[in-house]
Amino acid sequence: MGRRSIGDLAVSLLPSRWESALADRRLLLKFILCLTPCWIPALAQTPSVALPEGYLGSENCRICHENLGGVFDPHISIDRGQTKKRAALEWKGRTCEACHGPGKTHAEKAEGKDIFVFGGSIRYPALTPAGEANPRCLQCHAADETHRGREFGSHNRNQIPCTQCHSVHQSARRALLRVESTELCEQCHLNVKAEFTRPYRHKLQERAMACVDCHNPHGELPPRQLRRVSANEPGCLKCHGDKRGPFPFEHAPVRLGNCSTCHEPHGSANPRMLIRHDQSFLCLECHTSGTQTIGITPPAFHDLRTARYRNCTICHSKIHGSFASKDLLR
Ligand code: HEC
Ligand code: HEC
Ligand code: HEC
Ligand code: HEC
Ligand code: HEC
Ligand code: HEC
Ligand code: HEC
Ligand code: HEC
Ligand code: HEC
Ligand code: HEC
Repeated sequence: MGRRSIGDLAVSLLPSRWESALADRRLLLKFILCLTPCWIPALAQTPSVALPEGYLGSENCRICHENLGGVFDPHISIDRGQTKKRAALEWKGRTCEACHGPGKTHAEKAEGKDIFVFGGSIRYPALTPAGEANPRCLQCHAADETHRGREFGSHNRNQIPCTQCHSVHQSARRALLRVESTELCEQCHLNVKAEFTRPYRHKLQERAMACVDCHNPHGELPPRQLRRVSANEPGCLKCHGDKRGPFPFEHAPVRLGNCSTCHEPHGSANPRMLIRHDQSFLCLECHTSGTQTIGITPPAFHDLRTARYRNCTICHSKIHGSFASKDLLR
């Protein structure tokens, strides 16, 4: 007889009028427990791996908690030792307890006590604080690629727990997210959501892109949790590869890699998502009109009094860098 069917067997042995009263699985569990106090040692007898003191093993947890969804949960494979994560290997056969802590005492009493309970479930809606919950996750995830900049991230500094965004048992989404990723971000960042409704903007509303295309939710060394691509370049270049050099003739502020010196990445009232409505104002913030070339009085080459010179990129069309012109003209 398979272990899973203990409960079913018990039901079949009961007089039928009890069945409905015991439909609640929790009651059923407690009932079986008081009928057969000797079953606990029996169930713990042959774990597939040797367990440290106090641990019960996942197989045994599942006898009482079989409906945990979890089909999409990659953590399950740890029990079979199928993982490339070194830190996870030692939890083979007792994955439940890697997160919930040793559960033998809990199982003997079959109550919600003596076990670590995360918040965010129907029974415990209030989230467990990051300080208590995160270390459990980080014993395996601290070395993950996307967690390298965690210490620098605003979410970490503001004590947002992993379980605020991830739901281990209840999610069927990619990355075990509670809700779709951009919607998740928008729940807290309402002002940013609004910025994406401006006239010139990235197509986030249409879900042609996501907040996580530019930001790493776990934190990143550069400010604002901004993602970098390959050679520590701004994440923007993942999609705007034509702005990547190396250009023989660079435009210094572009090379320094902060596209938001000139652009409002979320959305802007100005064409090309520029930070200034009048393009020349943007340029003249750095290229002061006091120079020989740019000025209002002859012999200045650019006569800023005439409209012709105010749309700078008409002539300086290779504003992000040029292969041919030191003056970014072509
Ligand atoms: C003998 C049956 C039994 C076994 C074995 C068992 N549990 Fe439980 N567990 C229960 C019962 C009963 C509750 C209380 C549920 C309730 O009151 O809704 C509970 C509650 C919990 C809770 C709290 C959630 C809640 O709704 O209160 C967690 C977490 C939990 N168990 C995890 C585990 C883990 C991990 C294991 C394996 C180490 C395990 N359990 C083994 C019966 C068991
Ligand atoms: C990766 C960490 C992790 C693993 C592994 C894990 N749990 Fe959980 N468990 C959680 C979190 C987090 C919650 C809180 C609800 C949520 O986020 O889905 C939870 C909630 C629960 C609950 C409360 C019921 C619910 O759905 O809210 C029970 C019972 C439980 N887990 C049992 C188990 C058992 C049994 C196993 C092994 C089969 C297990 N857990 C493996 C993290 C984990
Ligand atoms: C025992 C080690 C271990 C612990 C503890 C652990 N994880 Fe994992 N987690 C893994 C492994 C292994 C994977 C599978 C992916 C991989 O190999 O990188 C994984 C995958 C994930 C994924 C990715 C799912 C996907 O579909 O890509 C998320 C999200 C995740 N874990 C969140 C958590 C959270 C939140 C916690 C704490 C509540 C937690 N993990 C605790 C080992 C662990
Ligand atoms: C602010 C929300 C948020 C918090 C807090 C958060 N995550 Fe995530 N996590 C995400 C999102 C969104 C993704 C999907 C990223 C993507 O699509 O590129 C993700 C992806 C993951 C993945 C899948 C692989 C990867 O790295 O992209 C793992 C594993 C993971 N998170 C673990 C954790 C752990 C562990 C914690 C706590 C230390 C945590 N997360 C905290 C939002 C969050
Ligand atoms: C639970 C609420 C919550 C969720 C969900 C959330 N954030 Fe945050 N986020 C915060 C808080 C709080 C801060 C720190 C205060 C601030 O700067 O607004 C923050 C800060 C940030 C920052 C850094 C701002 C700075 O000035 O350094 C970025 C970027 C960010 N979040 C992006 C995201 C993205 C992307 C997502 C979705 C994957 C997301 N957030 C989901 C609450 C949240
Ligand atoms: C096209 C890339 C891109 C996308 C998509 C994007 N961001 Fe940003 N975000 C940035 C850049 C770049 C900055 C830094 C701006 C600066 O330095 O002034 C930033 C700054 C922020 C900040 C801090 C400053 C502020 O405006 O409050 C938060 C918070 C933030 N983003 C959250 C989000 C959220 C939430 C989403 C999705 C709704 C999102 N971002 C989508 C590129 C992006
Ligand atoms: C995921 C891909 C992706 C990333 C990452 C991305 N962009 Fe874009 N960007 C686009 C697409 C696609 C368009 C075309 C505009 C449209 O129709 O949505 C665009 C358009 C633009 C435009 C021109 C808007 C116009 O009015 O012509 C600017 C400026 C821009 N992006 C700047 C940035 C900056 C700065 C970053 C980094 C903070 C960035 N982008 C990151 C995909 C991306
Ligand atoms: C020195 C200011 C400045 C910086 C820094 C800058 N841009 Fe621009 N960008 C502009 C101007 C001005 C335009 C408008 C050009 C036009 O109207 O022809 C523009 C236009 C664009 C466009 C739309 C037209 C096109 O050429 O595709 C994209 C996309 C863009 N920038 C992406 C970026 C990215 C990505 C970065 C960071 C690597 C960046 N920009 C850095 C000034 C700048
Ligand atoms: C954030 C400051 C900043 C902004 C804004 C800016 N530039 Fe520049 N630009 C520089 C710096 C710094 C150099 C390099 C100067 C040097 O090498 O002497 C430069 C170089 C140039 C050059 C090449 C000059 C040479 O020495 O041959 C041209 C042309 C130019 N910028 C045009 C523009 C135009 C047009 C705009 C507006 C779309 C603009 N710049 C916006 C900082 C800026
Ligand atoms: C009608 C075309 C045209 C327009 C419009 C124009 N420029 Fe130029 N710009 C040039 C040419 C041609 C040169 C090269 C002059 C030379 O080599 O003597 C130049 C050179 C420059 C230089 C480098 C000169 C130096 O000091 O070494 C800067 C900086 C510059 N322009 C900025 C601007 C700014 C800012 C605007 C907008 C306010 C602008 N340009 C508008 C044609 C133009």
